[in-house]
Amino acid sequence: MRLDKLLANSGYGTRTEVKELIRKGHVTIDGQAIFDPSFSVSEEMGSRILLDGEPIEAGEYLYFCLNKPDGYLTAMTDDRLPCVGDLLPPNLKTKKISPVGRLDFHTTGVLLLTNDGALSHQLTSPKWHREKVYLVTYSGEALTEKEVALFSSGMTLTEKGHAPEKLKPAILTLLPDNQCRLTLTEGKTHQVKRMLAQTGRSVIFLHRESIGSLHLKENQEPGEMYALSKEDIRLLKEGN
Ligand code: URA
Repeated sequence: MRLDKLLANSGYGTRTEVKELIRKGHVTIDGQAIFDPSFSVSEEMGSRILLDGEPIEAGEYLYFCLNKPDGYLTAMTDDRLPCVGDLLPPNLKTKKISPVGRLDFHTTGVLLLTNDGALSHQLTSPKWHREKVYLVTYSGEALTEKEVALFSSGMTLTEKGHAPEKLKPAILTLLPDNQCRLTLTEGKTHQVKRMLAQTGRSVIFLHRESIGSLHLKENQEPGEMYALSKEDIRLLKEGN
């Protein structure tokens, strides 16, 4: 297969984008920069191909970290509203990629997209405890040490019309200007908003900063995604 085709199929950009990367010398094989996009590569070369010094992931599965923009559904298709599936390059639309877990329509930040069903299951299963870190801007009285203690003790959500729901301990870090950072190890529906609501605050802006070891890149704009490196995938699978 041509090098540019392999990189595009593996999620490193459109054919035009990866050609540009190759021509600029970002891709090496066995330490040698390859400038020719039509360079012929074989399956077994996969692990020896480096992009900016990092081994590429050219296996059957694809993994992307998207900076989810505000105003997008966490879905691959929708008849009416913009959804994260619209942000995938056209060459990846047939690869059965889907989001892992869910962010609300207005929530921004780290969203993992993959067609690796086993990893998706692992990351969403209640048995696995990946820390998810949220930056929250809220309205109402400034949160205090009282809420820090409440969240860390594992609060019980008591909502009208619902059975009480005991939550796992969560770490609340107080920040100035009605902001806080909240670290959860579970992912119940609208969990951050429900926790804040129980303390009498409402969430104005919610941004997920990380899932375990997975973070946005510096300057990664909303709507942009990057393909995970082998190391990123290893760390996620191992629960770091
Ligand atoms: N908690 C929420 O309330 N919304 C999200 O999008 C994620 C976590």
